[in-house]
Amino acid sequence: MSPAKHPGILRMSPTPSTAEGHPVSAIRPAAVVVLAAGEGTRMKSATPKVLHEICGRSLVGHVLAAAGELAPENLVVVVGHAREKVTEHLAKVAPDVRTAVQAEQNGTGHAVRMGLEELGGVVDGTVVVVCGDTPLLTGETLKQLATTHEQDGNAVTVLTAEVPDAAGYGRIVREDVSGAVTAIVEHKDATESQRAIREINSGVFAFDGQLLADALGKVRTDNSQGEEYLTDVLGILREAGHRVGASVAGDHREIAGINNRVQLAEARRILNDRLLTRAMLGGVTVVDPATTWIDVTVTFEQDAVVHPGTQLQGSTHLGEGAEVGPNSRLKDTRVDAGARVDNTVADGAQVGPNASVGPYAYLRPGTRLGAKGKIGTYVETKNASIGEGTKVPHLSYVGDATIGEYTNIGAASVFVNYDGESKHHTTVGSHCKTGADNMIVAPVTVGDGAYTAAGSVITKDVPPGSLAVARGQQRNIEGWVARKRPGSASAKAAEVASRKSDGEG
Ligand code: UD1
Ligand code: MG
Repeated sequence: MSPAKHPGILRMSPTPSTAEGHPVSAIRPAAVVVLAAGEGTRMKSATPKVLHEICGRSLVGHVLAAAGELAPENLVVVVGHAREKVTEHLAKVAPDVRTAVQAEQNGTGHAVRMGLEELGGVVDGTVVVVCGDTPLLTGETLKQLATTHEQDGNAVTVLTAEVPDAAGYGRIVREDVSGAVTAIVEHKDATESQRAIREINSGVFAFDGQLLADALGKVRTDNSQGEEYLTDVLGILREAGHRVGASVAGDHREIAGINNRVQLAEARRILNDRLLTRAMLGGVTVVDPATTWIDVTVTFEQDAVVHPGTQLQGSTHLGEGAEVGPNSRLKDTRVDAGARVDNTVADGAQVGPNASVGPYAYLRPGTRLGAKGKIGTYVETKNASIGEGTKVPHLSYVGDATIGEYTNIGAASVFVNYDGESKHHTTVGSHCKTGADNMIVAPVTVGDGAYTAAGSVITKDVPPGSLAVARGQQRNIEGWVARKRPGSASAKAAEVASRKSDGEG
């Protein structure tokens, strides 16, 4: 389990599947067409539906990762609604992918036609069509579909599933005796008896490219939505005497399309469970899966432990025996072997082997803590390299700094890095002991083995081995309370104390 980079989508880490499906021999389709032009009205969002995220990846990103496992010769995403935003996102996460524009959303059949036009109109070989809003679909299931399609010599193979509630879905109509698929009927166009069918169209198909192009030309719009239905291709091909097949998904949850934010949350839960299951089977202890949330890109070594209430995001990696949580959020952060991170928020940080962080620390980008180092309670760090065995134990801010090895930074200290206009760097050497409540004003250097006195404001370089004292001298004004606060409780206490010490003396 090595840390994942962020490569093009075709090389993205696969989404784990629930079923322990047998490995399916790789059949390479000529093209995969992803439909992502719809608006997603029911999300009630300024963000296009396919750009909503679960487990650190957009809905369409998950679909592309699964499609990428087929290693298709061409991968086309059909965009339409909010296409600038969708195209911009695709350029970032999947630069290898081509896009086709469906300016008006005239139905799934029309969308596929637009996708094929981008590929020259007709494609030789298998064309797989998937929807951009089914993030739980796995590469394994797609391979199964493509394999069934080619082995059975079908003109079209539809991925179906039996669902507990089929409302809204297209129903799979089969012949009574042979069980052969004859048609897909949309919910809105279905009769009462067809609505009782629980086997539904997932919206995922494998087609013979030539026959698909031909049949799409014959699809009509005389249905309740006035759209070109992709599903009609199935009936058209069957009537022309071609083989029509179905591949039934093992787990119906895999094909769930996301239409609203309730379904978005349900899908996130399912995917998160899959990721945690894979991690646990790989030797990671997840104390409370119900309150642990991880992204698809997170990686672990064996015997890592995740405590309750923890979110691991982006390229976060936990080394062997590293322990994180409870109540921590780590983004793009590496925690090396044996390190301990407790009640911490970290972003873009590195925690060295056997180091300790928290409770209640905030590690900002560029924090690098060396082996056996410590960033303790109520400590914030940023762009700071903290050497092996060095400790910043309490109530401090360390920004824009390099600290050597085995140095101790006194409690409640601030590395004063900002003069109101620009940031400056501080260097503290190895084996230093800075006093509590220091203001270390950058740019400044504290040499190896130096000490600073508590309460100092360090504005000048401290030579190696020196003690720097930079604070006002203490002055005691005797009898001030008796004179200025006569009769007060303080004055009485002082009186008692002085009588006692007179008696002793
Ligand atoms: C579709 C299927 C239905 C199936 C269901 C599975 C048709 C006619 N119906 O219904 O049988 O059970 O999916 O979830 O195919 N899209 C475009 N351009 C369009 C229309 C849609 O790109 O003009 C895209 C959408 O962005 C979406 C996908 O196609 O990713 C499905 O569209 P949607 O409107 O959600 O179809 P359903 O009505 O759910
Ligand atoms: Mg629709």
